[in-house]
Amino acid sequence: MSKKILLGVTGSIAAYKALDLTRLLRQDGHDVQMVATKNALRFLPRLTAEVFTGHPLYSDMFDPACSVRHIDLARECDALLVAPASADFLSKMALGLADDLLSTLCLAATCPVLVAPAMEENMYLHPAIREHRKTLTARGVYEIAPETGPLASGKEGLGRLASMEAIRKALDICLTRNGRWSGIRVLVSAGPTHEPIDPVRFIGNRSSGKMGYALATACASRGAHVTLVSGPTALSPPAGVDIRQVTSAQELENSINQAFPDHDICFMAAAVSDYRLTLPHPEKRKKDGNSWTLTLEENPDILAGLSRLKAPDQFLVGFAAESKLDHKKLLDKLRKKGADMLLANNISQPGIGFSSDENEITMLLPDGSSLCMGKHPKAVLANKILDEVEKVWRFPPRSRQ
Ligand code: PMT
Repeated sequence: MSKKILLGVTGSIAAYKALDLTRLLRQDGHDVQMVATKNALRFLPRLTAEVFTGHPLYSDMFDPACSVRHIDLARECDALLVAPASADFLSKMALGLADDLLSTLCLAATCPVLVAPAMEENMYLHPAIREHRKTLTARGVYEIAPETGPLASGKEGLGRLASMEAIRKALDICLTRNGRWSGIRVLVSAGPTHEPIDPVRFIGNRSSGKMGYALATACASRGAHVTLVSGPTALSPPAGVDIRQVTSAQELENSINQAFPDHDICFMAAAVSDYRLTLPHPEKRKKDGNSWTLTLEENPDILAGLSRLKAPDQFLVGFAAESKLDHKKLLDKLRKKGADMLLANNISQPGIGFSSDENEITMLLPDGSSLCMGKHPKAVLANKILDEVEKVWRFPPRSRQ
């Protein structure tokens, strides 16, 4: 599998390892184009790099050889790997700065982007860098975690560039993943629904949309076409995703049912209100000293409805928010809803599930088998979920497009 790899090198003592990496990637049959930052060139001999890649090394945005080509470079590559990625460069990527060739390419790239950080332990664990890494992961950038070992300072610690083998493996995963999800049409629902009581009040829940948005981002970064049907959230739409905003469960149902036939797989991560007001008040109800009784009626079960519309090659993933994970009850829920996979969230502890950045998920399949995926940031779990889907779903040979 020969691919075009754009290898970004930044200012780190580990920059010389980019040469070894180039040699290995070329042995694997890949074509490697190197782009180095100004600081990387303090550690990396240009001529050696050009001999190793067999291409001119680009660095200067205003070099006539690449000033016109720079968008092509981003467009033509199958993966953009920044190794080593310095603290400064990770921060730049997270902020979307583009003041040199490599950072501009990172913004222009539509292929999978991987970063292999290398720096002192205190820098890697600094809250600013942690936040930037989190931002990048949430956007679908694949971080190849550094290793613990001797550092340039002479101390032992976390921050050594990942091993060549780990980088190669991560690249392989991204390149293959991109192949499997490429062109697959994914439908994701996310966030809460708001059921109107009157023009200013509603019944809602604490869903932030983070889990569904993380799934949409992960699918898009693997090359899928993603439609995200979102209830009211404070989140920005993920890049490259077709977003449809809805408010109530009935609007969500209409939007999902309309889109479903054109999609290969659907993730129902939305926290749909089970009830709505039978008769919402047309005007704001004034306080009048009396008690107020609201009459509620059941909303349609959207997921169960989809399972009745489902074609044999479509795949349906449901979620369940549970305070106590009872395997038998969950299996009943999965079968009653007709899903092909159920992802049960543990919402018994603060800091996981609704609204938080982390979640704890157990996956169940119709044959009764289950897998505890553990507690992770939602962006990490989204990728773990996609890995599990890859194991059980027979991907359609071509998209329905
Ligand atoms: O949005 P976040 O803050 O990131 O939180 C994520 C989450 C906890 C909301 C999410 O991971 C999750 O679990 N979503 C589903 C929550 C839920 O509504 O669970 P449920 O057990 O009530 O519903 C089971 C399944 O049926 C869900 O897939 C739900 O989308 C679907 N459903 C529920 C009711 C209904 N009327 N129609 C439905 O389709």
